[in-house]
Formats: sequence, structure tokens, C-alpha cells
Amino acid sequence: MNKIVILYGSSGGNAASVARQVQDLFDGNADIFNVMDITLKEVKDYSYYVIGTSTTGIGDLQDDWEGFLPSFARMDFSGKKVAIFALGDSASYSTSFAESMKVVYDEMHDKVQIVGQVPDEGYTYDDSTAVSNGMWVGLPIDEDNEYDLTQERLAKWVEMLKKEFV
Ligand SMILES: Cc1cc2nc3c(=O)[nH]c(=O)nc-3n(C[C@H](O)[C@H](O)[C@H](O)COP(=O)(O)O)c2cc1C
Repeated sequence: MNKIVILYGSSGGNAASVARQVQDLFDGNADIFNVMDITLKEVKDYSYYVIGTSTTGIGDLQDDWEGFLPSFARMDFSGKKVAIFALGDSASYSTSFAESMKVVYDEMHDKVQIVGQVPDEGYTYDDSTAVSNGMWVGLPIDEDNEYDLTQERLAKWVEMLKKEFV
């Protein structure tokens, strides 16, 4: 078992694909699970969590996370750290872009240290609850319109996380 785990929920496969890219960037030092397939017992002993979700509805959490997040957030997170990424579509959902990560943030930020916030420069959208003072609460990824930027965004982000996850 590694110290780092990536937990993702994905309805159409984009968040799953991004989660696998994140795992690759951790050079084999991260485990990965689809939240659809796991129990709390299997994931409670990690030190560092990367939470990945796609955004559905209007700014809602991916369906599989809906059921799992409340019990996950009640775990003992002493000494642990969490980073969040969210998939979104900044053109079709420009006023709720990647807001699912704010749902995760709101549920967890008073229980655990959240790391991996990125500046909103370079993103084109009208509004998102997941941005505060020019910083996203995690990493937004847009595979629908900006897939050509994904690799670079992930590489930068994982380098940042490697400094936190030690
Ligand atoms: C019904 C539906 C609602 C969506 N709502 C949002 C939204 O509110 N905000 C957003 O940024 N993206 C929204 N999206 C876009 C998805 O989050 C995006 O396409 C994502 O890449 C899907 O990832 P997945 O294949 O892992 O589920 C929505 C997509 C669908 C199908």
C-alpha cells in the first residue's frame, strides 16, 4: 500500500482518465480506486488523498461521490492532507464551472488540510463557487474544451502535491 491514494467518481470516463494520468505522474507511488467500488475500511489508512470528481447537474457532485462523501468526510483525518480535482465544461456550464470541487471542499475543509489550490489565470468561464480570491479550491480540468491543456495542468499540479505529500 502506498501513502497516497486517488479516489475518483466519473460518469462518462473523463475523471477516470484524468485520475489515471495523476497516478502515472506520481510514478507508481499512488494507489487508485473508483469510489463506486470501495468501502471506507479499504481507504482509511492512507496519509494523502487526491479526490477527483466530475461536475453534474448544475454544479453538483458526481453521483457515486454523493453517497460516499458524507461517511468519508467523517473519517479521522488527523495528520492527513487532501487535494481535489474536478472535471467541468467551461463553455456549456460557464456559470457553474467545476463547482463539484466546492461541494467536496465544503464538506472537508474544517476536518483536514486541503492542499493543491491553483490560481484561476488561464481559465475562461463566467462564474464558479469553487473560486475564492482568484484561487480555485483545487484543480479544474476541462476535457470538453481545453483537453490540450490537461497534461500541462496535471504535471504542474502533481509537482506541487509532491512537495505536500512527503
Ligand atoms: C448532465 C450534465 C451536467 C453537467 N453540469 C456541469 C456543471 O454544472 N458544471 C461544469 O463545469 N460541467 C458540467 N458538466 C460537464 C462535465 O462535468 C464534463 O463533461 C466532464 O468532463 C464529465 O466527466 P466524466 O466523464 O468523468 O463524468 C455536466 C455534464 C453533464 C452531462
